[in-house]
Amino acid sequence: MPDTLPFPPRMGSNAGQPLSRRDGPLKVTGAATFAADNHPEGMLYAVPATAAIARGRVTGMNVAAARAHPGVVEVYTPANRPPLMHDPDEKLGLFGMRMEALQNDSVRYAGQPIAFVVAETLEAATEGAALLAPEYAAEPARVTAETGERYTPERVGFGGPLSVGAGDIEAGLAAAAHRLETRFETPDQYHNAMEPHALVAQWDGDKLTLDTPNQAIVMACGLFAAYFGIPAENIHLRSPFLGGGFGSKAVPTGAQILTILAARELGRPVKLALTRQQMFGPVGHRARTWQTLRMGLDGAGKLTALHHHSTGATSSFDDFIEPAAAASRTLYASPAILTTHDGIRLDTGTPGAMRAPGEASGSAALEVAIDEAAEVCGMNPLAFRLANYAEVEPITGKPYSSKALRECYEAGAKAFGWASRPLAPRQMRDEAGMLTGWGMGTAVFHCPMFPASAEAVIRADGTAVIRTSGADMGQGAWTALAQIGAAALGLDPDQVEFESGHSHLPDAGVAGGSGHTASAGQALHNAGEDAVARLAELASTDPASPLYGTGNAGVLARRGRLYARDDESRSESYAEILARAGKPQVEGTGKGARDPASAETYALQAHGAVFAEVKVDPELGQMRVSRMIGAFAAGRIINPKLARSQYLGGMIWGLSFALHEEAIHDRRTGRIVNADFAGYHVPVNADVPEMEAIMIHEDDPHVNVLGVKGVGEIGITGSVGAVANAIWHATGFRPHRFPVRIEDVLPSLS
Ligand code: MOS
Repeated sequence: MPDTLPFPPRMGSNAGQPLSRRDGPLKVTGAATFAADNHPEGMLYAVPATAAIARGRVTGMNVAAARAHPGVVEVYTPANRPPLMHDPDEKLGLFGMRMEALQNDSVRYAGQPIAFVVAETLEAATEGAALLAPEYAAEPARVTAETGERYTPERVGFGGPLSVGAGDIEAGLAAAAHRLETRFETPDQYHNAMEPHALVAQWDGDKLTLDTPNQAIVMACGLFAAYFGIPAENIHLRSPFLGGGFGSKAVPTGAQILTILAARELGRPVKLALTRQQMFGPVGHRARTWQTLRMGLDGAGKLTALHHHSTGATSSFDDFIEPAAAASRTLYASPAILTTHDGIRLDTGTPGAMRAPGEASGSAALEVAIDEAAEVCGMNPLAFRLANYAEVEPITGKPYSSKALRECYEAGAKAFGWASRPLAPRQMRDEAGMLTGWGMGTAVFHCPMFPASAEAVIRADGTAVIRTSGADMGQGAWTALAQIGAAALGLDPDQVEFESGHSHLPDAGVAGGSGHTASAGQALHNAGEDAVARLAELASTDPASPLYGTGNAGVLARRGRLYARDDESRSESYAEILARAGKPQVEGTGKGARDPASAETYALQAHGAVFAEVKVDPELGQMRVSRMIGAFAAGRIINPKLARSQYLGGMIWGLSFALHEEAIHDRRTGRIVNADFAGYHVPVNADVPEMEAIMIHEDDPHVNVLGVKGVGEIGITGSVGAVANAIWHATGFRPHRFPVRIEDVLPSLS
């Protein structure tokens, strides 16, 4: 992998460099402060009491016992919860999710907050919550597909259409030489970011300071402001670091609202820090899906029809449905494609966005189904995918803004050694006698942008400060965004201060959908160019400047100097220009957003190809991924070091989806029985093999000004299928539910 990738000179020299993370030293020395590290004077501690049943009512709680605890200051229940300016059941804001804030005595899932204890110490609040000893009128828990209520939702994801398609599926199936119907189940997964959700609230009159990790800082202020009837500007939300977000920190939650409410009522700062166990329920999750793929194939192995239906689980009281079938809309060519969804209401917390919502679960099913189709046609899985390569987006007929998927297939296959793969399964063993298999999957993720804005200020000493509210949740935004801003300013990143991570800055939009670099990056790029243009204006109108008469478009900004575009012997430093003009600084502003015309004209998608080797113990059925190589094309790469880390993280998440993660509900109580790190398995270093991420260059003049697509989530999408298909190739057993279990493969081994 090259250390740097080609970058248009206009962007300056620093963007495209594999800089280390600017926050790295703060993190490794423990100097970075996370929300729960804040301890303002006089602070109280809040602990939610949570429901032990999954459906019914709370009929009584021993509030008197909790209040009698010497450290307990207040106990909030639905009976005394002070009013909010909005009904928590109302859907507010862009994401439009219901809040849970003690609005009534109903229990809708196990782990739901049913009371809120505030005390002088964390121990007292915890003991107070235990003393409540709630009594319930319980109804049977509905936590299985059989007991849930099937329904037709109005939308999938955050507002996506239920059904999208083109062509005649039944005609395509009727005309096919081979027909295939295959079903999949994917599990409940919980985000399990390293940093549990936390919030410290402090009121000063009608001004509110919040320390809380958040992926959409300014938007969150708007939502909190609505619940408390204050202007959003009155809220200062500080979120300098997130210990992972994964989608779960994009939408505020009821427990945060209750913490803010308690701080106002009690006139003291209040801290909430959820335990690991308390995060299994009220802060979102990736919900189960049941997916069916129907495919028709002609004699040459080309799809004649592709119908992908996904039934997604959601809660009994809100409507987030995993848009899983969407994965089939854009990847493979077929004269008929139909993607459809419906829902099942279960007694669980409301699901939400979790790393590649839709594509992760959907492509897990699609990529295994595609492998099954290749098998039916007797084709190599790579040859089959190339035979069904979409040259234009199949349903819309739009050209892709760029699509180097073919190059990803080639580079990944070459690096992996795919050409020597035997076609039939169960042909390879390693020197230890392990059944060895090779599998692949195609990666795909869309490239959304969110409206964002930024400021750039060039100062008298020739350095600059750039500002946008932002969120670095571990992905490296602090670094990549600073590189973009510095490049636009013609400065080295070391000369640019990056102010970010709080709400009294221009709105950086959402750090989600893998769209933060593209969105906030474009805003910073435009702000930087705007500041440079103002500087150029000063110089080119000043007869004493060597740049006199160049006009503000006639200059280039490099290394702290402006150069005449057509004569680089004419130049002047930023400091000199400002000094002669007698100005302390010049300021620029910029915005980032998707150009509607580009979205109208082009299909905007990032792509990749993932190859995995799995070894299966022929006696024990234990499965281990021993090698993984992904090749990805996601437009321009701002920082290859950080992008590689994102790709590898995505691939590990895919491995985890394939083999590890699942929240298991007890059918009788509805409770999650493995709601901690002892029982909920995430991969550790020993589970993660040698991995490589290959970056395929893609010049995309259409996706946005920077040519950036986004790298955060795509790594998950091809990886689940690659691992599952490698298990098939090792054993002959075809996985249809995730995670793949030892007991699933064992029968095929005897
Ligand atoms: Mo995400 S699930 O785009 O934070």
